[in-house]
Amino acid sequence: MFLGTSIQYTTDMKIDILTLFPEMFKGPFDESMIKKARDEGLVEVNIHNLRDWAKDKHKSVDDRPYGGGPGMILRVDVMERALKNLKSSVSNHQSSIILLTPQGNVFSQKKAQELSKLNHLILVAGHYEGFDERIREHLVDEEISIGDYVLTGGELPTMVVVDAVVRLIPGVLEKEAKDNESFSKWKMENGKWKITLDYPQYTRPENFRGWNVPEVLLSGNHAEISRWRKVHAEKRTRERRPDLLKK
Ligand code: ADE
Repeated sequence: MFLGTSIQYTTDMKIDILTLFPEMFKGPFDESMIKKARDEGLVEVNIHNLRDWAKDKHKSVDDRPYGGGPGMILRVDVMERALKNLKSSVSNHQSSIILLTPQGNVFSQKKAQELSKLNHLILVAGHYEGFDERIREHLVDEEISIGDYVLTGGELPTMVVVDAVVRLIPGVLEKEAKDNESFSKWKMENGKWKITLDYPQYTRPENFRGWNVPEVLLSGNHAEISRWRKVHAEKRTRERRPDLLKK
């Protein structure tokens, strides 16, 4: 396991995650694509417990809000110690520190592509009522939300971001799989990004209950197949996500 102290691989990308619930990451990060990427040394992922940087005997990382109100707030001093320590673990000290909060910029495929090019990501998963505002103001580079809904903490959003980023690291997936899927058809057209959803796909049987596979896909005519896929990808995008075409 990679909880706490980590195995050191030589990789181009290192992801450090700060959380109060390290055990939550065990299943998702020990399976499938992320496991493969870690095993092959394409990415190093370490999970850290924020409490490791607490100073008192109760290992407290949060406190009541000044001015009163419900809940507990994560402390800026503990967070600074943790972040400084994680930053010092990379030689160039060029780390991007990202806070997962519902108040952040909404995550997108474009952002995932941007993050996949960085060398060191520190993702901070908050819990409880929130962060001391000084963490936002002075310690982090960016806040990311995974959508307009509120979860109980930043752990699941962190996993979403890690999954979306790791699969884009060169060598993790076959290039063709990435190029052909929904939301990856990013093309620059007239200085603007154009995105389309995926085209419909079929496999055997050719006829099931009278539901037939479109003739063109059985034709072997690659030019025709490409055309059909492009038309249907655009049609689907227009019908389901016209907002993407306007972006
Ligand atoms: N923490 C709680 N809800 C969240 C969301 N939607 N995105 C990111 N972090 C969160």
